[in-house]
Amino acid sequence: MINLDEIKKIVHQAKNETLEEQDILIYTLHKIQDKIPNNFIPEEAAEVVSQELKIPLSKVYEVLTFYTMFSTKQRGKYVIRVCTSLPCHVVNGREIIQAIKDELKIDFGQTTEDGLFTLEETGCLGLCGVSPVIMINQEYYGDLTPEKVRNILRKIKGGAKI
Ligand code: FES
Repeated sequence: MINLDEIKKIVHQAKNETLEEQDILIYTLHKIQDKIPNNFIPEEAAEVVSQELKIPLSKVYEVLTFYTMFSTKQRGKYVIRVCTSLPCHVVNGREIIQAIKDELKIDFGQTTEDGLFTLEETGCLGLCGVSPVIMINQEYYGDLTPEKVRNILRKIKGGAKI
């Protein structure tokens, strides 16, 4: 259940930050998405943001659909973003992707049946020096091997907090 009062509170806090209009919107959407267990921005939340920031709803959706870190559809508790840009791809990137898909039995754009993981592709995460790189929610993992990535996923499945 989404608490719309809490969303209003987040928007008001964001307004007090010294940020440009576009940055306030992005900051607000990040904060809201972090609060929602399924890692997405529901329609009701987007409407509150639009009203409270006095920004057209179409503009809110423009941002939501432009940035891949946002989603308007429910996702898993943990969103795994795999960098598929060339520097990561050439150093074991393909093997990492296969290890994740085999371990979780899902493909890109899918969520595991238990609602724990969603798998997504992303462009360069800016950490090419430690490629291959993935992100799980806000955490980065670099220098990965198939074994390392399987261990990370198994720890999370076992209840480890990240
Ligand atoms: S190419 Fe993967 S982090 Fe830069």
